[in-house]
Amino acid sequence: MADTVSSRIAGFYQRSLGERVDALAGTGLLSAEAERHLRAGGGLGLEVADRMSENVVACHGLPLSVALNFRVNQRDVLVPMAVEEPSVVAAASNAARMVRMSGGFVGEQATSQMTAQVQLDEVPDVASAGLRLAAVHDQVLRAGDAAVPGLVARGGGCRDLELRVLDEAEGLVVVQLYVEVGDAMGANLVDTVAEATAPLLEAALGGRVGLRILSNLPLRRLVRVRAAVSAEAVGGAPLAAAIARASRFAEKDPFRAVTHNKGIMNGIDAVALALGQDWRSIEAGAHCYASLSGVYRPLATWTLTEAGGLEGVLELPLAAATVGGSTRVHPGVRAAFELLRVSGARELAVVMAAAGLASNLAALRALAGEGIQKGHMKLHHRKDAVAAAAGAAAGAAVAAATRGGVR
Ligand code: MEV
Repeated sequence: MADTVSSRIAGFYQRSLGERVDALAGTGLLSAEAERHLRAGGGLGLEVADRMSENVVACHGLPLSVALNFRVNQRDVLVPMAVEEPSVVAAASNAARMVRMSGGFVGEQATSQMTAQVQLDEVPDVASAGLRLAAVHDQVLRAGDAAVPGLVARGGGCRDLELRVLDEAEGLVVVQLYVEVGDAMGANLVDTVAEATAPLLEAALGGRVGLRILSNLPLRRLVRVRAAVSAEAVGGAPLAAAIARASRFAEKDPFRAVTHNKGIMNGIDAVALALGQDWRSIEAGAHCYASLSGVYRPLATWTLTEAGGLEGVLELPLAAATVGGSTRVHPGVRAAFELLRVSGARELAVVMAAAGLASNLAALRALAGEGIQKGHMKLHHRKDAVAAAAGAAAGAAVAAATRGGVR
């Protein structure tokens, strides 16, 4: 039954595709529609695709997988992932198995506040602009709320604002509004708030309104996830120490940190794609956050604990959504949500971050141990075999078409 779902499904990877769907259906999580969709091979109907974008000519497919063994905040979760790179799903599942031996991932996202930016140019007397803004503070928040009544009715709305002086001599300032967007990604909501409040801000501060748009660095939407692993779980004390040294390497070197972070995003992006999230915004925010100190840094670090194990912490801004965008439109995304059954956007962000931290642990363990290539290449060869088969089939089709005088 759905309440007692285990994310450990023995031998899942050895089963046929149909048997894997059987196992998912057996959890009781899937609706009849979602089960039918998966049994039919997933994907996106052309009619839906045509409504989602412009100039559509076909659908572009990716494998939809499920990462196993995840336990997040005391709950087992089946984690859908859409990714073309071999070994990402296996690696995340493997690391999640190690982490669950110590109780699983623990994480939280404190708020779902997105940031709206209103640019003002040539503001006079920038030194006193803060005082002028303080005088209209409540009025601006009320005007912002009035522009998004549906959001306010759902418990969201404008929470706060602040002034940032970008160039005093030019009179270039930005007003940032913090908007609680609940379970939405929030881009449309905060853009609406930015546009609705801009005239008031211009009247109060002077100068000329410039851009009115969200920031993809939602610092009030930080998600933080922790995981502990014992030395035995990662393969022994020397390997645990080597993982901690690998983490230090990333802390000291941006050339390494970017690859370390890419490994984290392997997990986060794969879940994002499967769940129909705006992965470009997540990527942009993650890398900006990594470099916020002025030096590009790792988003996750691993340190040795006194007990000789490892503790990993990952922190990044993450604008996740369980409503809006393609979350209700795409049948595969709907099925993925049924499997994951998160309570809202904040829980989704925690699961995504857990997938990122798991991917990071798996990568560091492989790199610090036997190297990445052995496991990677085994899975790559499987892909090459598929490519060769597809090439042969395409060749046969071309040959048949040519024989038939079509070309
Ligand atoms: C490959 O997709 C990801 C890794 O390069 C990450 C890392 O080096 O930490 C293995």
